[in-house]
Amino acid sequence: MSRIAYVNGRYLPHSRAHVHIDDRAHNFADGVYEVILVVAGRMVDEEGHMARLTRSLRELDMGEPMSDAALIHIMYQTIARNRVMNGMVYLQVNRGTAPRNHAYDKQDLVPTVVCTAKSVVLPHDADKAVGVKVITRPDNRWERVDIKTVSLLPNAMAKTAASRAGAYEAWLFDENNMVTECSSSNAWIVDQEGRLITRPLGLDILPGITRDRVIKLASEHGIEVVERAFSVDEAKNAREAFLTSTTSFVKPVTQIDDAVIGNGHPGTTTRTLLAAYLVFANKIAMGEAA
Ligand code: PDD
Repeated sequence: MSRIAYVNGRYLPHSRAHVHIDDRAHNFADGVYEVILVVAGRMVDEEGHMARLTRSLRELDMGEPMSDAALIHIMYQTIARNRVMNGMVYLQVNRGTAPRNHAYDKQDLVPTVVCTAKSVVLPHDADKAVGVKVITRPDNRWERVDIKTVSLLPNAMAKTAASRAGAYEAWLFDENNMVTECSSSNAWIVDQEGRLITRPLGLDILPGITRDRVIKLASEHGIEVVERAFSVDEAKNAREAFLTSTTSFVKPVTQIDDAVIGNGHPGTTTRTLLAAYLVFANKIAMGEAA
């Protein structure tokens, strides 16, 4: 079945879905996006994603392209037209199309809206989760990475460095060697007392929707969460490490650079959280309230 994409009011075959070369996202990376997990045809944590999108638009002085209800309708149409049961839906809103000029005039711009969806095989069994290796890289992004913009060149470079090193992700660190987040996910460790540690929200990390969900699930399971910065060295000596994102769920990290984490296998806290996340996603699939 050929893939269908939504572009500015039309559902088109993926191969014919285009935006203009004067779209400001093409010239200036002037756009924002969301990636939302789909389980049994339903979007997971839809409210959190829509709230983050609204915030990204506001922080960049972009207007709402249409109501949330209309955007949600487009996403469900795209999911249905691509017959996605389990997978991801991608929504991008660009500021609009205008002759190339750094400054924009809000009056003249009509936002570009693009939506795609694709199927993904979801993990079933937390006990079968396999640990991954990550590398560390300096965080050389701009100072507002809390906004989910398509300006992702440093992230793409870091992720490529990870792939070339045979690693799954790049963990980024600031000028004090403290881990910020990963190229496309949030970073976590479990300390020797079994506490979950993750960097607090601020301008220097993306407020991950999965991060937020995992904090809620941890407290439901009696796992203490401490939101504080941790160093690369602390991570290498942690009992467990993992990362979270819409596309990676809760992913055990068993090696950071050359350091093996714990006993080299996914830890119990990480597996508990992955299992809890899968139960939660399943509840959404069954139509039960989150
Ligand atoms: N990335 N940090 C960064 C830099 C990210 O790009 C992402 C998500 C996250 C995790 O956010 P969430 O839990 O809301 O997915 C953290 C998406 C999946 C992407 O760019 O494809």
